Amino acid sequence: MFRLICLCIGYCIGCIETAYVVGRIWQVDLRQHGSGNLGTTNALRVLGKKAGALVFIGDIMKSVIAFVICRAIFGSNLAGVYGSVGAVLGHNYPFYLKFKGGKGIAVMIGMTAAMAFSMDIRLAIPNALIGFGMAFATRYVSVGSLLFALTLPISAYLLGFPREMLYLTIFVSAMAFWRHRGNIKKLLNGTENKFGSKK
Ligand code: G3P
Repeated sequence: MFRLICLCIGYCIGCIETAYVVGRIWQVDLRQHGSGNLGTTNALRVLGKKAGALVFIGDIMKSVIAFVICRAIFGSNLAGVYGSVGAVLGHNYPFYLKFKGGKGIAVMIGMTAAMAFSMDIRLAIPNALIGFGMAFATRYVSVGSLLFALTLPISAYLLGFPREMLYLTIFVSAMAFWRHRGNIKKLLNGTENKFGSKK
């Protein structure tokens, strides 16, 4: 039962779509501009560095807050992880925006950070190095995002995280790949936007 409650708490927090709110402040609906995605990359692309930073920090904080609240209520890290997974779901599929939100990477970064600081700091190291490193090296944010998503369950497995948490990391990672399916197609046919381009 605590699992469902944590997913619901996380979902409600994740639904606060930072990119949508920040876009409204800038009087721009990000769904109509750039890639149309409600995430950091599109906020940065369309609105600039300040908006991008706000969205990035806001999205990270959603899963950290969900983790902290659920862990405090139920007294276990597993409850915290369910809270963060709920936040990723809410971010990716907000009910009031016709279930069209972001792609979940910044929220996953928050989830990874919360898990790393609560359980094993080594969880965050390969993700940060590979994800951010490859995004900068290739100038494709989606490549960094996908590698970040892929590295999370691999690290959780290698570090011996409990099986249920491992399955949850696999779930959010699979969701990230699903949400990036358009980016993957574009990467394969060479039309994906490089960081710095306007679409
Ligand atoms: O996490 C989102 C990023 O990988 C791609 O964003 O706006 O280029 O589809 P976007």
